[in-house]
Formats: sequence, structure tokens, C-alpha cells
Amino acid sequence: MKELNEIKEIAQKEHIPLMKDDGIQFLCSFIKERLSIMKILEAGTAVGYSALMMASLRENITIDTLEINEEMVKRARDNIKEEGMEDRIFVYHTDALLFESAKYYDLFFIDAAKSQYFRYLNHFYPMSYVGSYFIFDNINFHGIVEEPSLSHNRSTLQMTRKLKRFKERILKDERFKATFYSEIGDGILVLERIK
Ligand SMILES: C[S@@+](CC[C@H](N)C(=O)[O-])C[C@H]1O[C@@H](n2cnc3c(N)ncnc32)[C@H](O)[C@@H]1O
Repeated sequence: MKELNEIKEIAQKEHIPLMKDDGIQFLCSFIKERLSIMKILEAGTAVGYSALMMASLRENITIDTLEINEEMVKRARDNIKEEGMEDRIFVYHTDALLFESAKYYDLFFIDAAKSQYFRYLNHFYPMSYVGSYFIFDNINFHGIVEEPSLSHNRSTLQMTRKLKRFKERILKDERFKATFYSEIGDGILVLERIK
């Protein structure tokens, strides 16, 4: 059985982007402090590292995790099986925007395509209830969201403009209570559904 740290290190060597250590610590503490969180939907599985970290917190946690890349799906399933978590973590090979479920989730962890955050939120909203949480990572995107001169890449700049609009819109959205943790991870946004 591989240690979770080993899974992380292998992925990092291959430049597969995973949540930063302080971000994952924040996410895990958030879940630990709220015993009502049992059903989690994750968008963006990669190799299954964050899903395994979340599932390790309590035995009553189940996770549906969505991944568009076939190679990642295979690797995540292998890692999850090796850790003996295949009865609690279910990897779906799908675009997150096409995923449908009759379940209601306690927490949505959104870590897939950054330019789609608003669409994910609206797509998953019917699978939430008043009191569900949505957590988004990479809201700062390496500081480029607030300081576009840090990048000269057109598609990065397009994406960070969308992230900026998402953040501005969400802070005014009356369906949610929003808290932004700018200094944690790559900028973490927590939404609690209140309507
Ligand atoms: C930052 S990585 C996820 C890291 C993972 N949550 C962790 O910390 O261990 C983002 C993943 O989202 C996947 N992805 C991108 N667009 C997606 C989409 N539309 N639907 C599902 N997955 C997507 C990518 O293939 C990539 O593996």
C-alpha cells in the first residue's frame, strides 16, 4: 500500500497539479470540524490525492469524484483500490458539467477547470440544500487574478479574468454566504448555501 505522501510526491514529480499542502490542511480541518459532512462531491480528481485525504478523515464519508481525463481516472482508481477505499470513493469518468445525481451532497469541492467555476456552481446547485458548502481552490491563480501583468499567456489571462468575475459575482450572490481565504492554498473560497 502506498502512503498518501507517496501518491502526492509521484504526482508532483510529473507536474500534475494537486492542491497545495496548506489548502488540503484547511479542507481537512473544515470537514473534521463539521460532523454533518458525510457526502462529498469533488470536481477534478487527478490521481485521487485530495479524495483520499478527505475520505481518510472519517469512516462515514463517501465521495463521488469527477474526472474528465481517462489516464487520471485509471490512476485514481488504482490508487484508491490500493488504499482500500474503493467502497467509499467513486470515480466518474465525465465532464463535471455533465454529471447528474439524485443525491444531495453536504460538501462540493470544486478543483476542475477554473474558467467554469460559475457554471459548476449552477450545475451542482440543485444537488445541494440550505446548509451545503461549496469550496473552490485557485481563486488567486498564482496572483495573476489580481496582477495580470504576471502572465503573458493569452489563455491564462482569459481564465484569470473569468476567475475575477466569478469572485466579484459570488460575493454579491444572495444564495450564499461567502468567505474568502486569500492567504490559504492558492486562494480558497468557501460558500455556504443560505437560500
Ligand atoms: C488541480 S487537478 C485536481 C487535483 C485534485 N483535486 C487533488 O488536489 O488531488 C484538476 C483536475 O481536473 C480535471 N478536469 C479539468 N476539467 C474538468 C472537467 N470539465 N470535468 C472533470 N474534470 C476536469 C483535470 O483533468 C485535472 O485532473
